[in-house]
This record gives sequence, structure tokens and C-alpha cells, in this order.
Amino acid sequence: MADEPLILGIETSCDETGVGIVRGHTLLADALASSVEQHARFGGVVPEVASRAHLEAIVPTMQRALTEAGVTLADIDAIAVTAGPGLAGALLVGVAAAKGYAVAAEKPVYGVNHLAAHVAVDTLEHGPLPEPAVALLVSGGHSSLLLVDDLARGVTPLGATIDDAAGEAFDKVARLLGLPFPGGPYIDREARAGDPAAIAFPRGLTAAKDLAAHRYDFSFSGLKTAVARWVEARQRAGEPVPVADVAASFQEAVCDVLVGKALDACRTNGIETLVIGGGVAANSRLRAMAEQRAARHGIRVRVPRPGLCTDNGAMVAALGAHLVASGVAPSRLDLPTDSAMPLTTISV
Ligand code: KG4
Ligand code: ZN
Repeated sequence: MADEPLILGIETSCDETGVGIVRGHTLLADALASSVEQHARFGGVVPEVASRAHLEAIVPTMQRALTEAGVTLADIDAIAVTAGPGLAGALLVGVAAAKGYAVAAEKPVYGVNHLAAHVAVDTLEHGPLPEPAVALLVSGGHSSLLLVDDLARGVTPLGATIDDAAGEAFDKVARLLGLPFPGGPYIDREARAGDPAAIAFPRGLTAAKDLAAHRYDFSFSGLKTAVARWVEARQRAGEPVPVADVAASFQEAVCDVLVGKALDACRTNGIETLVIGGGVAANSRLRAMAEQRAARHGIRVRVPRPGLCTDNGAMVAALGAHLVASGVAPSRLDLPTDSAMPLTTISV
């Protein structure tokens, strides 16, 4: 509908420079430039390299998005930008660009939370999110379960990882299996040829004694260590490492815990919608397992298509559109970045 707000979103919190344009819940453009290949040989994102790459990519990516959507900056109703959490220098590039464009074109600017944007992006595919919903957020830097009462104004954290994020566990296990960075997609691919029941890896914080204090929390560092020990034992014995079986069994352990806890949160709170967001939501086994198990309890699972799960500008635009539609006031032009922005801050 033409009277819905036309929102441009800018994302630079990690290694993807993203500019997305949406009208209401309709995606018009999703331009992306990634510096992932520049980080691969270090086995992780190098902040200084990421900042420099954003600086080089931001203007061309902006131009590509506007061309793709067939609009000009003058047509845009508001600019949304990731203000946190993320890498400090990387965030600054996006926020400075958003301010510059906002001043030049006299547009309001919304500094938004990257994690809330991972939830909001699903509205581009499945329409307005029924509230309350439970959200499972699983990315390279975060793993949380939250109750979404009102995505424009506030969410209630239920639990989070007490050590590694889910994506981090995928990346570390991939590394010890000799797979490239970022490891998630490679483990996903290898696992298809493997047996998920080949090795019984531990499910962190699921034992009765842990559930009392950590019912909705996650822990993946014990799992990562268990995989490392298992692989080392094989290598010491001079036996080949069955990469597909290790990948499948590891992935099964992660997904089992994520899905189990997310569905527990839905059932305990009487909630019928589970939305999954963040890079790990692109995982094929996580998507299939969540749908299968949720169906047994009459719970609907919403997961955006894999390309929208990993970082992009469209997710920021989607959250911006939701904020504008909900009547939330824009940010001040001197809005700060916050590399440790809490999940409960939706916009600044
Ligand atoms: O949300 P995201 O793009 O960036 C952050 O905000 O962190 O998430 C990146 C993470 C990486 O750890 C990557 O390995 C993981 O998402 N990932 C996957 C898959 N695709 C990306 N993990 C498992 N399976 C996948 N298919
Ligand atoms: Zn992310």
C-alpha cells in the first residue's frame, strides 16, 4: 500500500554492510556487501578490517539499494540504523552515514537494536507478528530466548547463553574439523551426509539440577570441548575423523537444546507463536526440527528465509517500519552507538 511508510535501513554491526528498503511489510531492496572473505584467514571477524570495509562499501551499497527499489532518498520517510550491539568501530560507520543522509535529506533517523531487527525481519515474509510471541535469537554473538510483548517498545528476556553463542559454537567446531569460516553453513552442509545419532554429545543445561536455575539459559562451551576431545581421541588413535558424523551429531545436540528450551518457553507461557531469528536460524536442521516438534504442541514456527536470517539491511528497515507504524518517536540526531546495547532497548 502506498500510504505505508517507506523506510531505509542501514546495518554495519559486524562484517556485512547492508542497506535495505521496505514499504510497510514489503521488501523493495536488500543490498549487501560482505567483508567475510577478508576475515576468513583469521578464523574470526577482525574489527579494524570490518570498519574499513564498511567505510568503502557504505555509499555504493546505499546507491545499489535505492536503484533496486526504484526510489530516491527524497522519497524515503525515515532512516533506521543499527546503533548496537556490535563492533564499536563498525557501528560508527553506519550511524555516521545514517546521520549524514538524514541531515542532507531532512529525514528522521531511528537508532535501533540489531537483535530486535533479527526478530522484526520475519514480518517481511510472514506479516505482522502476533504478540505476545516467544523469540529464539541465535547469531554469532548472541543466543537468547525472549518474550515479545511489544516489539516496538519492550521485550522480556527469559534466558541467554552463559558462555558461547550458538553461532560461535558452530564456528569453533567447524574450525576444529578443518572447515572454513564462518563455519555454520559448512557444518550444515557436511551434516546432511552424516548420522545425527552417531555420537552422543552433551546437551548443556538440560539436566534436572541445571533446570532450576537455568531453565531458559544455554551453554555450548561444554559441547564444544566434548567435540574437541572426541576428535583428538580419534586422531591420537590414528583413525580418520568422520567429519559428516561429527558435524551431524554436534548440530543435533545444538538444535535439540535450542528447540527444547524454546518450546518449553512457549508452553509454559501459553504462547502459540515461536519466531526464530539470527544467522543460526538459517540452519536447515534447526528449521526442520523446530517445525516438527512445535506441530505436536500446536505451536506455529515462523522463520524467515535463510538469506534474511544472516545480517542484512532489510531487517533494520523492517524494525524501522514497525517503529514508525507504532508511533515511536525518532532518535535525536546525536544518537550514540552502544556496542553492548541490551536486548531490552529496542530503539534509542
Ligand atoms: O546473525 P549473524 O549473521 O551475525 C551476527 O549478528 O552474529 O550470524 C552469524 C552466525 C555465524 O556464527 C554463522 O556460522 C552462523 O550465524 N550461521 C549458521 C548458518 N548460517 C550462518 N549456523 C548454522 N547453520 C547455518 N546454516
Ligand atoms: Zn546478527
